[in-house]
Amino acid sequence: MGSEYGQIAKLVVNRQPCVALTGAGISAESGIPTFRSKGGLWEKFDPAVYASIEVFRADPSKYWSIRGEFIRNYDTYQPNAGHTALAELESMGLLRHVITQNIDGLHRKAGSRGLTEIHGSLREIFCVRCGKEYRAPHLPEGVPPFCECGGVLKPNTVLFGESLPREAMEAAWRESSTCRVMLVIGTSAVVQPAASLPHVAKEHGAAVIEVNIERAFSNADRFLEGKAGTVLPELVAEIKKLI
Ligand code: OAD
Repeated sequence: MGSEYGQIAKLVVNRQPCVALTGAGISAESGIPTFRSKGGLWEKFDPAVYASIEVFRADPSKYWSIRGEFIRNYDTYQPNAGHTALAELESMGLLRHVITQNIDGLHRKAGSRGLTEIHGSLREIFCVRCGKEYRAPHLPEGVPPFCECGGVLKPNTVLFGESLPREAMEAAWRESSTCRVMLVIGTSAVVQPAASLPHVAKEHGAAVIEVNIERAFSNADRFLEGKAGTVLPELVAEIKKLI
């Protein structure tokens, strides 16, 4: 195990730049359920109902019934050792960017600065009628909550049926096609267009290293099995031995 970490540490140090793509798995140890693992959110709630823009327009209370609690407790969720390890790698000059599918804001809280939240963020909430902005955890009561103008509130996140913000997607593509190492962490890598990014990286010559409790991206060059909150600090420790 030590030598596997050592070899991957060498890859990260010697084949810069390095970029990370993260998914729900990296936040699991912060107490946020994933989507498709056992006990995941989509096991209990059908995303076609609870996370689709069409249903949101017809009945936003469905969406708010599964998201309201997280937003109202936004400040209680904290980054774990996995998020912190990525922020540390960035501050060491060895991680150029984090592309995350997560909407929980934990990479930002951990201190990552080169960051693209391709599915948006639950931190920012706005009124669909007048555009007034709210910021988690501060929002009016109610399921769904309404703006003082009477319009319904919607987080600045991507629901099924919506396209991803163009700027974010362009940044994700740029980072993926120009990195030489990509860490793919805690994602089932099935939801497009994020699922294409490791392929984009590979096609442009990057080495792809997966970190997951079970293999999800079959095309990865290397696989570090385990929880992100254990594996990533271990990898950072190996990297520190080299520099
Ligand atoms: P998934 O729930 O599909 O996948 C979570 C992945 O994390 C799985 O591969 C798990 O094996 C892995 N995992 C679980 N715990 C872990 C841990 N402690 N350390 C490392 N890995 C762990 O989540 P995503 O791939 O992020 O989109 O899902 C992608 C998108 O689907 C989400 O952004 C969301 C969802 O529908 C939207 O809502 C638009």
